[in-house]
Amino acid sequence: MTWLITGGAGYIGAHVARAMAGAGERVVVLDDISAGVPDRLPPKIPLVEGSAHDAALLKRVLAEHAVTGVVHLAALKQVGESVAQPLRYYRENVGGLAVLLEAVAGAGVTRFLFSSSAAVYGNPDVNMITEATPCAPLSPYGETKLTGEWLVRAAGRAHGIATVCLRYFNVAGAAEPELADTGVFNVIPMVFDRLTRDEAPRIFGDDYPTPDGTCIRDYIHVADLAEAHLAAARRLSAADASGDLTVNIGRGEGVSVRELITTIAEVTGDHRPPVVEARRPGDAPRAVASADRAAKELGWTARYGVREMVESAWQGWCLRHPEAARN
Ligand SMILES: NC(=O)c1ccc[n+]([C@@H]2O[C@H](COP(=O)([O-])OP(=O)(O)OC[C@H]3O[C@@H](n4cnc5c(N)ncnc54)[C@H](O)[C@@H]3O)[C@@H](O)[C@H]2O)c1
Repeated sequence: MTWLITGGAGYIGAHVARAMAGAGERVVVLDDISAGVPDRLPPKIPLVEGSAHDAALLKRVLAEHAVTGVVHLAALKQVGESVAQPLRYYRENVGGLAVLLEAVAGAGVTRFLFSSSAAVYGNPDVNMITEATPCAPLSPYGETKLTGEWLVRAAGRAHGIATVCLRYFNVAGAAEPELADTGVFNVIPMVFDRLTRDEAPRIFGDDYPTPDGTCIRDYIHVADLAEAHLAAARRLSAADASGDLTVNIGRGEGVSVRELITTIAEVTGDHRPPVVEARRPGDAPRAVASADRAAKELGWTARYGVREMVESAWQGWCLRHPEAARN
């Protein structure tokens, strides 16, 4: 097999590309570098700079590299931005995906792995979210991921493409400091950012119906997530692979924002108490994955805990913000 990894110069994509190449898979990355960093990839992984929604380029890349499977990570991913710019999010995450799937079907590629998100579930009133939990996304971003899943499965059925949709929960950490997330959109980098500015971490609401009143999430180390992609790719590589599979990728363990901030204080040595602010609209009190299907169908379970996620994310942060390490 040769795998085309779209968005492979991104935070998660670079981890996936490295893990797959490291395990002996042939990979080629397609990334328009709108948010990606070419240096995240070692020279042995070919990088094509361009859009995963450019039909002519896709036709050429799929043929030239004799691609037999696609791992599609390229997407816009900011929830708040998607509320302000829904048309752009639908154009990129849904319209662009349709172009990619047309190229894939046209080239006779029969394996497809799609980056989905826990955002498809919205705010379900359940203890553990299984893949059968009804999907009711709360943002245009989540809607584009759910619509994307529908498109992937429909195209798979119509064109004989075996498909896997991985619904990632809260991704954190880095396998190497240079591979860390450069954005400040998730809670861990947001807290690092506050500490680096000499400000207290913020908690948005401590009156949720949870044991300590703060929101509970399921954090997954990006290195574990990359291994889940490898496991899914191996499953898709089977000669008789067919049909579709949708899988949660999480640890099955809830961690509250307050617990997370305590771990961040232990790792950074900065113990200033957090300030509590108003709830943010759309934050679910609890979102924890059932990881049973991933174990059963992919033979995959997470290895790393929250401490390792925070430690590795902090190393990556300090690399780009040396002033933080000195505080
Ligand atoms: N980070 C998370 O917590 C999280 C959680 C759930 C799902 N996801 C999904 O995982 C995927 C990767 O997310 P990430 O955190 O690595 O984001 P990222 O922004 O670091 O990576 C996305 C990559 O895609 C590239 N890209 C964007 N549009 C492109 C296009 N049209 N053609 C080619 N390349 C393009 C960007 O340059 C970037 O390298 C996304 O699909 C995202 O929705 C992320």
